[in-house]
Amino acid sequence: MSLRINDTAPDFHAETTDGPIDFHQWIGDGYAVLFSHPKDFTPVCTTELGYVAKIKDEFDRRNVKVIGLSVDPVDSHHQWEGDIAETQGTAVNFPMIGDPDRKVADLYDMIHPNANDTLTVRSVFVIAPDKTVKLTLTYPASTGRNFDEILRVIDSLQLTAYKKVATPANWRNGENVIIVPALSNDEAKELFPDGWDEQKPYLRVTKQPS
Ligand code: BEZ
Repeated sequence: MSLRINDTAPDFHAETTDGPIDFHQWIGDGYAVLFSHPKDFTPVCTTELGYVAKIKDEFDRRNVKVIGLSVDPVDSHHQWEGDIAETQGTAVNFPMIGDPDRKVADLYDMIHPNANDTLTVRSVFVIAPDKTVKLTLTYPASTGRNFDEILRVIDSLQLTAYKKVATPANWRNGENVIIVPALSNDEAKELFPDGWDEQKPYLRVTKQPS
């Protein structure tokens, strides 16, 4: 069964390019992004891993650990890392899980048989410090992911976890937000003393709280 938002992310033990891990323990107190790619030594995956390595600082700033996965073994990942560094200009600076027995792929429903019987699709799971799933994405093998969008969602998740707001279409960190409909105007006055623009009773736009 596929994982849904707020389900607990399954824990597992796995071999990675940085050594063995127990997933929940490895996540620790922050957020994590677990993302799968179909196969080592493939072109789109090579660009994705290079791009994630380039923007790793952005994940670090948000207290987010990133980890990749494919059904190839760790020694294959290590060999492939040389190609990624050579072609993408950045060394891979995060662990990649080797999953040749597909244990993790099965736990996270990353193999979609109507796409391919044996290879993982491009899954993304954003996992919160309490180990619940906060975002799932599935892309086909032929389409590389937009990792800037994943950072954007993490900004929204980290803001909306603590403030009574939601973020509108295409929102970016620092832009105006929406007061959650569950908050009455009296309650909102306490939390948003600078007020809001009430476009409809259910659409109250305010500055992003700090
Ligand atoms: C790729 O990463 O380039 C890729 C992987 C599997 C199928 C098609 C493309």
